[in-house]
Amino acid sequence: MPLLEVRNLIKRFGGLTAVNKFNYELEKGTIASIIGPNGAGKTTLFNMLTGVYVPEEGKVEFNGNSLIGRRPDQITFLGIARTFQNIRLFNNMTVVENVLVGMHARLRVSIVHALLKTKRFQEQEQRAKIESVRLLDYVGLGGRGDELARNLPYGDQRRLEIARALAAEPRLLLLDEPTAGMNPQETADATRLIRRVRDELGITILLIEHDMRLVMEISDWVTVLDYGEKIAEGKPEEVRRNLRVIEAYLGKGVASSLTPEANSPRPEVETGFTPPDQAAAPTQNDGQER
Ligand SMILES: Nc1ncnc2c1ncn2[C@@H]1O[C@H](COP(=O)(O)OP(=O)(O)OP(=O)(O)O)[C@@H](O)[C@H]1O
Ligand SMILES: [Mg+2]
Repeated sequence: MPLLEVRNLIKRFGGLTAVNKFNYELEKGTIASIIGPNGAGKTTLFNMLTGVYVPEEGKVEFNGNSLIGRRPDQITFLGIARTFQNIRLFNNMTVVENVLVGMHARLRVSIVHALLKTKRFQEQEQRAKIESVRLLDYVGLGGRGDELARNLPYGDQRRLEIARALAAEPRLLLLDEPTAGMNPQETADATRLIRRVRDELGITILLIEHDMRLVMEISDWVTVLDYGEKIAEGKPEEVRRNLRVIEAYLGKGVASSLTPEANSPRPEVETGFTPPDQAAAPTQNDGQER
């Protein structure tokens, strides 16, 4: 049984169908990516999986539970944590406090214990603090716990969001553009971190990304959305050669110039897609940082 199973999911905003009849299965232990041009419906899909939006139609089953109609906090409790395309941290709280917030998503402390600051509550808080510091070390923010979140550089804020999501001890981690705005070094570090989270912690990962180099490098499975519809799905090397995918990114005109008949050079567009005629051979750009 897949960890996540989506059937016929539809989300409309007025006359616009942002996600249309989306079907999807995600096996446990996978790193999977959702790609597609701006406005394709990627974030809307995440918002439906996490209870932010209620779909018009469709089913979502996670680990044997239906997610439709559940609130975001209930879905977190069932084991799905996420990060956001636009970083959402508590800017005026410290780094470690931000992780503690994530941890409280799973701790169920009774309000009486909290108000009376009972011994049990204090012990639990102490344990949570130690665990948070450990998580900060894990994502590469060791020693930064007492800084204010807003004072962290951008790349570190993205790591902190990952630490906060991990604090909820998810089975499935959703990352919405985890490397957006990062420089090549930060992107390489984030790529390693994502892989470690899967390999070492056994957490299944679904990520949305525009950085095709990262997507092709890290993903076991890639799904392509365009105008709310799934237009392709497969292993990275299959998807990167798919003409429909190239068209979605570059437009029909450019895509047809990439077919074997046309001997035109590869256009200077950073898509990470290999034209079908060059798919087997290494391209000039291989090995260079983007
Ligand atoms: N709350 C909303 N109200 C109205 N329209 C919305 C809302 N959220 C998203 N949309 C629209 O739905 C479509 C899909 O948006 P979405 O944010 O899911 O795209 P995306 O694939 O994440 O794009 P990007 O790569 O730019 O982040 C877009 O046309 C967007 O304008
Ligand atoms: Mg988005």
